[in-house]
Amino acid sequence: MQRGIFITFEGGEGCGKSSHIKSLAQYFESKSRQCVITREPGGTPLSEKIRDLLLNAKEGAKMSPRAELLLFEASRAQHVDELILPALAEGKVVLCDRFADSSSAYQGVARKLGGDSVEWLNNFAVAGAIPDMTILLDIPAEEGIARANARDNDNPDRMGAEKISFYQAVRESFLKIASQNPNRFVVVDSSGEKEATFEKIINAVKEKFDV
Ligand code: TMP
Repeated sequence: MQRGIFITFEGGEGCGKSSHIKSLAQYFESKSRQCVITREPGGTPLSEKIRDLLLNAKEGAKMSPRAELLLFEASRAQHVDELILPALAEGKVVLCDRFADSSSAYQGVARKLGGDSVEWLNNFAVAGAIPDMTILLDIPAEEGIARANARDNDNPDRMGAEKISFYQAVRESFLKIASQNPNRFVVVDSSGEKEATFEKIINAVKEKFDV
């Protein structure tokens, strides 16, 4: 059986992850590779319930940053055990919209919980499911938020309703994580035309994997 491939997409709000994930899945399928598209928080029934608590529940209004981190990690642990590891074991390509690096950037840095706790919890939750490749779609925070607001009709969820400085901290953090993990990360400028961005993604994927 062919080895599974685990690719994660990261980036700030409005960076265009979901449309590129769909296009990349079409590419893999055209090469006869079975693909699973999934997302965090979410991806399994239980993890999607946790997603709703994190992003939309009215009870989330006073969520403490530690509770927030633990909910993201609980959602991740279930997602890894129920969906990601079994799909990789079956030789599938798993394309995941956000993963553990989002907790490092959003909770560790922007929420100021610190790298050590987040790193420990990330490792515990992922249980060895380390992405083969992480594509960071980089876009200035202001531009990304403007795109996200247009998409969501100016009705952001709880994580989308922070001050711009929060998303600037997220962006800086992602760029730092990428520079510390050059073998895993590809940083793609996502502020230009969609087609040009996707071409950079596909070139990076072809260079790394035999597809
Ligand atoms: P999405 O809008 O990309 O679906 O992601 C949902 C929000 O959750 C987004 O604002 C990023 C945030 N998030 C975290 O803060 N920590 C995490 O670990 C994950 C996976 C997402």
